Amino acid sequence: MTEYNIAKPFLKWAGGKTQLISEIARVLPKHITRTNFTYIEPFVGSGAVLFWMLHNFPHLKKAIINDINEDLINTYRTIASKPKELISILQILQNEYHNLEGNEEDKKSYYYQKRELYNLRKEEQIGQAALFIFLNRTCFNGLYRVNRRNEYNVPMGGYKKPTICDNENILAVSNALQKVEILCGDFEQTLDFSEQNSLFYFDPPYKPLSETSSFNSYAKDVFNDNEQIRLKEFCSKLDLLNHTWILSNSDVKGKDDSVHFFDDLYADFNIQRVEARRSINANPEKRGVLTELLITNQVNSKEYVRVI
Ligand SMILES: C[S@@+](CC[C@H](N)C(=O)[O-])C[C@H]1O[C@@H](n2cnc3c(N)ncnc32)[C@H](O)[C@@H]1O
Repeated sequence: MTEYNIAKPFLKWAGGKTQLISEIARVLPKHITRTNFTYIEPFVGSGAVLFWMLHNFPHLKKAIINDINEDLINTYRTIASKPKELISILQILQNEYHNLEGNEEDKKSYYYQKRELYNLRKEEQIGQAALFIFLNRTCFNGLYRVNRRNEYNVPMGGYKKPTICDNENILAVSNALQKVEILCGDFEQTLDFSEQNSLFYFDPPYKPLSETSSFNSYAKDVFNDNEQIRLKEFCSKLDLLNHTWILSNSDVKGKDDSVHFFDDLYADFNIQRVEARRSINANPEKRGVLTELLITNQVNSKEYVRVI
């Protein structure tokens, strides 16, 4: 039998949840340790919580992931079905890029040439996924940002010989994804794939703390306040259907005491404030400790979480 490493996120992604996992673990419903359950993550991004769940609950019946970003989902699907072919392309990209180390001009033109190729979206599935991972590993701060025409427009990052091809992790992720159904589209479609008593974890694009401060444009469509309200309505529907959900979002009230947006919106549910550290921020001084919201429809979760 093949031994795999523990699968971990294969991308850097804004809002990556690695820092918040211990807090999320504390609000998990008790029944999931005893029963086979379905785990659903409608805004999967880099999947930090997904991989943690898959590792810690090996008996979970199945998992369903979804994201609106087609290129991201294409990459998940490629890793799940063709990891070896993907590795062989990534290995070539890594060798070529590393060989240019020390020659900034050549490195730059290599990066921008690959970015252009990616934006043509003419490569077949595996080639496009390889370019997606290459850009994520070599771009500025691991950002994913596209313009209205869905063209990726992040500049090159300053990393020296970044790991572009992590063979062992790609194989581990591929193995972990075998029991995961991978969907692409709006978060609401995940309800059609739920089973009785499913557990949903929502990590939507966060509401910006101020007009200019925050980055929340992962896709060509903006996730504005109306979208946040639509998400809350979806959560209320899940509650009526007896599903359990946990949701993270920014703590706009923590920043400005007069803003009660989430406190009002989720007044019927459990709202907790937890410490979180943001790692993707262009300004290192802003990478400090922030509070974030963890909201759940579980009645007894308060006792498990340190409220600050
Ligand atoms: C905060 S990120 C998720 C971060 C993720 N949990 C992680 O650990 O990296 C939000 C994700 O929501 C996706 N998204 C935005 N609008 C969406 C929608 N309407 N339906 C589904 N996904 C959406 C974005 O493409 C992005 O990947």
